[in-house]
Amino acid sequence: MIVVFGSINIDFLLRVARLPGEGETVAGQDVALAPGGKGANQALAARKAGAAVRLIGAAGNDAFADLALANLVASGVDLSGLRRAKRPTGAAFITIDDAGRNHIVLSPGANQEARAADFTPVAGGILLVQRELPEGETLAALRKAKDASMTTIVNAAPSAGFAATMRDLADIVIANEHEIADVAGRVDTPEALAVELAKTGKTIVLTLGAEGALAAKGGQMWRAPASKVNVVDTTGAGDTFCGAFAAALDEGKDIGAALAFAAAAGSLACTGLGAQSATPDRAAILKA
Ligand code: RIB
Repeated sequence: MIVVFGSINIDFLLRVARLPGEGETVAGQDVALAPGGKGANQALAARKAGAAVRLIGAAGNDAFADLALANLVASGVDLSGLRRAKRPTGAAFITIDDAGRNHIVLSPGANQEARAADFTPVAGGILLVQRELPEGETLAALRKAKDASMTTIVNAAPSAGFAATMRDLADIVIANEHEIADVAGRVDTPEALAVELAKTGKTIVLTLGAEGALAAKGGQMWRAPASKVNVVDTTGAGDTFCGAFAAALDEGKDIGAALAFAAAAGSLACTGLGAQSATPDRAAILKA
């Protein structure tokens, strides 16, 4: 069983030919609303990859919540621990350029009311967290999971202000090539930082976009290529990677096999607009 303690958002998606510079106005296409939030995206990806998944978090008591939760409900993610908050459902304003790159501005809203008290540890399970919920609550959830001997996976995104305490509570850290410097607390090449952090015995997973991913633990290293796909939008690709990686570990795959499975899933997630429209199922990942 995978428990995701994480964010739930409604995403406002806007395609533009190129991302605007500071103080600049650019015209985009029609806006589209879609389910998102790093926690929800990861929960959906893990579920579609074949795992039993529970999502703990908070959504508003508003119409946006229905859309934000629709894919989770349809795929069978357990939402029995979901809190309905007074604040509006979290919203992310996302611009996507012709190369599939994005800018995201987040209004956390109801996510601010997510509480670790709603999380009941599951023996033998995995806790997967990101950094869009209140930091103290995420740390409290990690402590509860560690006390219950669950495996803890911390996705460093968004990585600004990443605290050493969170790193210490993680068995596995997943970061991209930009985030890893915040995790390490210093600047070096992403691979050097991953190798250094992995000396503690933790598993450090580094996602590298079109270059695939690598994992390091102790003195060992694994690499996996990205799949060749037609990139439409990279939003949520990292989330799909995290969910699929957790699902692969949950079913007993070793680190190398889990990395390959997750890299394929993350690539496939880039083939549709929005964070959840191209989340692959298990069969598609195995075929990639
Ligand atoms: O990682 C992508 C996600 O980040 C989007 O779905 C958006 O909601 C933000 O949380």
